[in-house]
Amino acid sequence: MKSVIILLILTGVMMASPGKSEKSLAIEKKVKELVAKMTIEEKVGQMTQVTIQTVSKTQGTKSQSHVLDEAKLEEAILKYHVGSLLNVYDVAHTPEYWHEVITKIQDIATKKSRLKIPVMYGIDAIHGATYTVGATLFPQAINMGASFNKELAKRSGEITSIETRASGIPWNFYPVLDLGRQPVWPRLWETFGEDVYLTSVLGSEYIKGAQGDDLSKDNSAATCLKHYIGYSFPFNGKDRTPAFMSERTLREYFLPPFEAGVKAGALTVMVNSAEVDGIPTHSDYRLLTEILRNELKFKGLVVSDWEDIKRLYTRDRVAESPKEAVRMAVMAGVDMSMVPYDYSFYELLVELVKEKSVPMKRIDEAVSRILMVKYELGLFENAYPKKELIAKIATEEHTKVNLEAAHETITLVKNDKNILPLSKDKKVLVTGPTANLLSALNGGWTLTWQGDEEALYPKNKKTILKAIEDKLGKDNVVYVEGTTFNKDVNIKEAVSAAENVDAVILCIGEKAYCETPGNIDDLNLDHAQIELATHLIKTGKPVITVLVEGRPRVIKSIAEKSKAVLVAFLPGMEGGVATADILFGDANPSGKLPVTYPKGPNDIVHYDYKPLEFFDANAYTPQWSFGHGLSYTTFEYSDLKLAKNVISKNEDLTVTVKVTNTGKREGKEAVLLFLTDLYGSVSRPNKQLQGFEKINLKPAETKEVSFTIKPEQLSFIGRDNKRITEAGDFVITVGNLKSEFKLK
Ligand code: BGC
Repeated sequence: MKSVIILLILTGVMMASPGKSEKSLAIEKKVKELVAKMTIEEKVGQMTQVTIQTVSKTQGTKSQSHVLDEAKLEEAILKYHVGSLLNVYDVAHTPEYWHEVITKIQDIATKKSRLKIPVMYGIDAIHGATYTVGATLFPQAINMGASFNKELAKRSGEITSIETRASGIPWNFYPVLDLGRQPVWPRLWETFGEDVYLTSVLGSEYIKGAQGDDLSKDNSAATCLKHYIGYSFPFNGKDRTPAFMSERTLREYFLPPFEAGVKAGALTVMVNSAEVDGIPTHSDYRLLTEILRNELKFKGLVVSDWEDIKRLYTRDRVAESPKEAVRMAVMAGVDMSMVPYDYSFYELLVELVKEKSVPMKRIDEAVSRILMVKYELGLFENAYPKKELIAKIATEEHTKVNLEAAHETITLVKNDKNILPLSKDKKVLVTGPTANLLSALNGGWTLTWQGDEEALYPKNKKTILKAIEDKLGKDNVVYVEGTTFNKDVNIKEAVSAAENVDAVILCIGEKAYCETPGNIDDLNLDHAQIELATHLIKTGKPVITVLVEGRPRVIKSIAEKSKAVLVAFLPGMEGGVATADILFGDANPSGKLPVTYPKGPNDIVHYDYKPLEFFDANAYTPQWSFGHGLSYTTFEYSDLKLAKNVISKNEDLTVTVKVTNTGKREGKEAVLLFLTDLYGSVSRPNKQLQGFEKINLKPAETKEVSFTIKPEQLSFIGRDNKRITEAGDFVITVGNLKSEFKLK
């Protein structure tokens, strides 16, 4: 078995493929020449990534500055030849301090090391430059999903790269292309939602924006598709627990976004930290090499996730020793190990190569990929931060885009008797645990990993409460906390305050969290917050509920009795202002839900459900369905036209529809096209999103929207687990209109 694997790898090593640009051929040549000069130790060092904590004297906290340990840094780069560093220890740095850190690193790497190979620093710039003080921090991915806006996804990628590069960092561990189909999972908000097509398209747009057309430019950074693959679908909903998925499920749902990301040109991929069908992904040759390399033709570098090679031994027990874990992962296809605290990977891999348990060809392949990315990023020409770029962080223009994004990503799901927007001469009670926290609006990966250090948040950004006070005047706003996230503080006081106002703005949801610390046992919203809501509803005053949360926490009992509900998810640094703008009519909401909002904790049915899920007593009756979202104006759909009613298997199909703003306000509408394959040899989903466009319409304005359905959009994974297209009847649905066509 082992020799078969080795043979497969050998045949695939760095063969110059036809159709490459002059630039990539030149890079290939440079890489080859450099690799030829490298010792085993230098090569294995390139494959080693350590966290900055490993080379630090003191941890940064809100009251203490981080200090680098320069002797340890020299040891990392000169003794262990490390190719990459990552992360912060443990709080965001100012751009100036980042420059200092990166300069010290590159001084050692590019001046003192034998071959002068620059270090590639990587960071989780998840919703903007997470770890740079003052950076533009966008709504999280779940919100970007709700925007259904390709341009916005692209622009947020571009701005994130500009600000990450301006911090001196060229590599971003993003986008997350996992599908959000397990609502309990604490990383749901890092996804673009439950849909395959939406995730594929927004992910690709993000990559195009983030990488641009030349990765060596100041406005670009390398992206990283993660977490390949199956990570987001843990059976029990807890982070880093097993996923079970058939080959068909994997290929039908979870693989296409990664395929799209590879096509969009992403240069790096990070591996699923958990396991699929009993095989820890870091040891899965089939997924990492056969599918990712041989089928998807991914040419870039594969990095492990945090400590996950070690964990093949310490946690998963598929390797009987730390050394075997290293061998397994490298031979499965991992090119770089996020070790991240020591040099064990380096030491063990050097031994393995010397013993010939890992062939040099495999090492050369991995190192070549790493060096290729460094060349693409222009690091060999200039690995240093550029001082003048600091001015590009959080420009007025970036902040404006961020506010627009927040406006477009907040979803109005209920608005009884058009109670919203509220007029500004009203007196309101603002209450609930998410009303006055910037951390709740931003979620994890904000200034710290967990994002919950409120004291670190910028003083000039507004919480929902502050933004409402600024809009209405402090005298017209009463604030009572009500509850923390899980405890009564002063519910009684909130109830009596409600007596003297015109409306209650109830801000509930979740505190900031990230990864495993965000695990929950119950999707129901915490009892204390439901109590607060219930008591306020009982007062008879209209309650407007604002949900600030990373996943759709169940709120059935209060959803029905709230007069209006805004699903804000995690709208980012401008989220407070955007929420107030929407509540009081200074912005017209245009978000649509990128996930199904469940009515009960076990009500996990997606919009693209199978016939069995809507049969007999089964039904799709969520609290709010995927794609649902209201506006302050009304839109009418008309003239749905298909260019043809019969097409052949390799033909495109053009679909047009007219949308008119029939209300009194200008507004944006996400026009969603769904496709239904009526009969198939594998049970077909109720419908599948296959096109979307966001348009802006003035009152009485009509626009025609055109979609092109490509032949592959009619395909699915057949009984033999291969992608197939079957002749038959299809239905297109756009808005309330339907039309049919036949595939010959
Ligand atoms: C997360 C990754 C992240 C990495 C580096 C891991 O714990 O799963 O998403 O990129 O840490 O910070």
